Amino acid sequence: MSDPRIVVLNGPNLNLLGAREREHYGTHTLGEVEERCRARAAALGFAIDFRQTNSEAELVGWIQELGAAAGLVINAAAYTHTSIAIHDALGLVACPVIEVHLSNIFARERFRARSYVAPVATGSISGLGATGYELAIEAIAALSAAGDGS
Ligand code: DQA
Repeated sequence: MSDPRIVVLNGPNLNLLGAREREHYGTHTLGEVEERCRARAAALGFAIDFRQTNSEAELVGWIQELGAAAGLVINAAAYTHTSIAIHDALGLVACPVIEVHLSNIFARERFRARSYVAPVATGSISGLGATGYELAIEAIAALSAAGDGS
């Protein structure tokens, strides 16, 4: 493994987790989600680079700068349903990409069932809350161990 770093990117409004629409997103803050990611990754021998932005352009920039990361976990939030720019950037990524949503995007409004991330992700996790982030990290660790880089 050239770089045991897992990058976790979070899109718009996820900075408000814990206060925002708790019926969909639960009571965890983003800081708590980050701590759970760090703990899970450390137990598996990986470091975490955890970020949030409300900017589509910043997300695209961060995706372009993944370098030799072992994997990417991405909750693109509302940009999941709108962003061809993020879709295109993810299409150029060499490492495993796991799409995560706290809520079940298939059980909500129809517009949320369309994901521009899913076709360029290695796999997707939706509806498992903060646990989904931990499972995404486990998936990247398992894919890395299997030598299945994408
Ligand atoms: C979300 C689902 C999206 O539809 C929504 O716009 C979000 C959060 C989730 O984690 O469930 O902001 O990605």
